[in-house]
Amino acid sequence: MVARVNTVAFQGIEVLGIDVQVQMSGGIVAFTVVGLPDKAVGESRERVRASLHALGLALPAKRITVNLAPADVLKEGSHFDLPIALALLTVMGVLPDVEMARYVALGELALDGALSPVAGVLPAAIDALARDRGLICPEPCGGEAAWAGPGLDVLAPPTLLALINHFKGSQVLTPPRPRVQEAEALAPDLRDVKGNETAKRALEVAAAGSHNLLMIGPPGSGKSMLAARLPGLLPPLDPAEALEVSMIHSVGGLLEGGKLLRQRPYRAPHQSASLPALVGGGSRAKPGEISLAHQGVLFLDELPEFPRPLLEALRQPLETGKAVVSRANHHVTYPARVQLVAAMNPCRCGHLDDASLACARAPKCAADYQSKISGPLFDRIDLHIDVPAVSPADLSLPPPAEGSAEVAARVAVARAIQAERYAALAPAGRAPPRTNAEADGELLERVAGPDAAGRTLLTEAAERLKLSARGYHRVMRVARTLADLDGVDGVRRRHVAEGLSYRRIAPGR
Ligand SMILES: Nc1ncnc2c1ncn2[C@@H]1O[C@H](COP(=O)(O)OP(=O)(O)OP(=O)(O)O)[C@@H](O)[C@H]1O
Ligand SMILES: [Mg+2]
Repeated sequence: MVARVNTVAFQGIEVLGIDVQVQMSGGIVAFTVVGLPDKAVGESRERVRASLHALGLALPAKRITVNLAPADVLKEGSHFDLPIALALLTVMGVLPDVEMARYVALGELALDGALSPVAGVLPAAIDALARDRGLICPEPCGGEAAWAGPGLDVLAPPTLLALINHFKGSQVLTPPRPRVQEAEALAPDLRDVKGNETAKRALEVAAAGSHNLLMIGPPGSGKSMLAARLPGLLPPLDPAEALEVSMIHSVGGLLEGGKLLRQRPYRAPHQSASLPALVGGGSRAKPGEISLAHQGVLFLDELPEFPRPLLEALRQPLETGKAVVSRANHHVTYPARVQLVAAMNPCRCGHLDDASLACARAPKCAADYQSKISGPLFDRIDLHIDVPAVSPADLSLPPPAEGSAEVAARVAVARAIQAERYAALAPAGRAPPRTNAEADGELLERVAGPDAAGRTLLTEAAERLKLSARGYHRVMRVARTLADLDGVDGVRRRHVAEGLSYRRIAPGR
C-alpha cells in the first residue's frame, strides 16, 4: 500500500509541490528515504521514528520506502519530517487517507513529537490556497500561515498527537490568527544629530525617492549615526509590500513568532560577511542580506573594508533588483530591490581634509583607499555627500527643532505622490514602480524630463563631469524626487542643480 501527503520545496521564494509517498512492503526490514534528500531530510528518519515512539507507536517491522517526488528536485530543510510522519501514519491506518489529500503539510519534529517552527510557511500557505488545499504547520508558524487569507484552512498543532486527535475528532484545533510585528518604539531620532544640515537634507532626499546614498567623512562626524536614523524616516510597508518582504524572511527562516513585518527592513551586514551571506545561496539556498533588505535599506558601514569580490557581487542586484544564485543544476532568483546606504572615511587615517590631523601619507593614501570602491559601484550611487566633522560650537547648540517625525511626514507625502503617479502611468500588466529610484527608460523620460533651462544645465554638467548614461539618468531621478518634495509637477532647473550637487566625480580617479 502507498500513502501520499503533499508538501513543498522552495526555489527562491517560488514554491514547488512535492509528493511524499510512503510504501510499506514485505522483505528485509528497512526505512529508506529516496528522491534527492539533503542531509537534514535524510536525518528526518530518526526524528520520525522517535516521534512515533513518543506516541506509543512502533514502526512496523517491514520494508518502508519514502519517496519524495519529483525525484530530480533537491529537497532541502527540516520541514519534510511532518509530511513523512503523516504519510507513515496514513499507511499504518492511524490517519484517514482522504483527509490527508486535502492538505499541504510542513514542519519539523522534535524527539518527543512536538512540532518545531520551519522556514517558508508563508509562501507555502499562499500556494496551498491557490491550489485549494489546507495547510498543516507547527503552532508557532500559524500566525504567518493565516496571512494567506481567511479562505485557507490552517491547522497549527503544537504536537503530532494534537493533530492525530484533531483528525480523530477528540480535540479541536483553533484556527490561528494573523500576527504583525510591533513597531520599535524607541528608534533613534534625527533630533540627536547636531549641525550636518547638508547630510540631513540628503538623507531626506534618499528616503523620499529610495535613492542610494554614500556618505564620506572623517571619523566621528556622524555617518553611522545618520544611517541609523534612516529607518525612522521611511514609511511602513504597504500591505502588498509587507507580504512580499515577509515571504523572503519566511523562506530565510527569520520571521520571528510567525509575525508579518510592517517596518521596512534595515540590514547592516558586517565586513566579514561571506558572499553567500550577502547575496544569497550557500550549501542550503537561502536569501542573502541584499534580499532580506528588499524594499528597505542595506547599510554597508566602512565600505572600503568590505572585500572587493563582495562589493562587485552587489553590482548586478543593485541594477536589476534581483539576486540570482547559481545552484548545481539551476538558478534561484530572490527579489533584491534595496536602497544602498554606505559610509566611508576619505582615507585610512580619515582626516584627509584636515592637514593638522592627517597622517604623513595624505593625500596619496586617499587615492589608494578610495580606489577600493570600483567605478561601476560608485556609478550606481545616486547621492554622494561629504559629512564634515561637527564643530564644538555646533555640538553645544540646543537640539534642532525638527526631528524624525517632521521629516518622515514630508517623505510620506513625496512617496505617496510617486506611488500615485506611477500607478497611473505604468503599462498595464506590469507592476508599477513605487519610487523614483525604480523608474526607468521611457517612463523616466516622461516623468522626470526637466524644463528647457534644466535640460541645458544637465547636458552641460554631464559633459563637464563626464557622467555616464547611468549617472545622467540617476541625476534625473534625484531631480524628480526633489520636485516631489517641493510638491511641483515639473522638474525645474533648481532641482537639476541640487541633483548634480550630490554627484561627485568618482574618488581616486
Ligand atoms: N552631528 C552630530 N551630532 C551629535 N553627536 C554626534 C554628531 N556626530 C557624531 N556625534 C557623536 O559621535 C559619535 C560617533 O558618531 P558616528 O559613529 O556616527 O561616527 P562615524 O562618522 O560613523 O565615524 P567612523 O568613520 O569612525 O565610523 C556618535 O555616537 C555621537 O555621540
Ligand atoms: Mg561609523
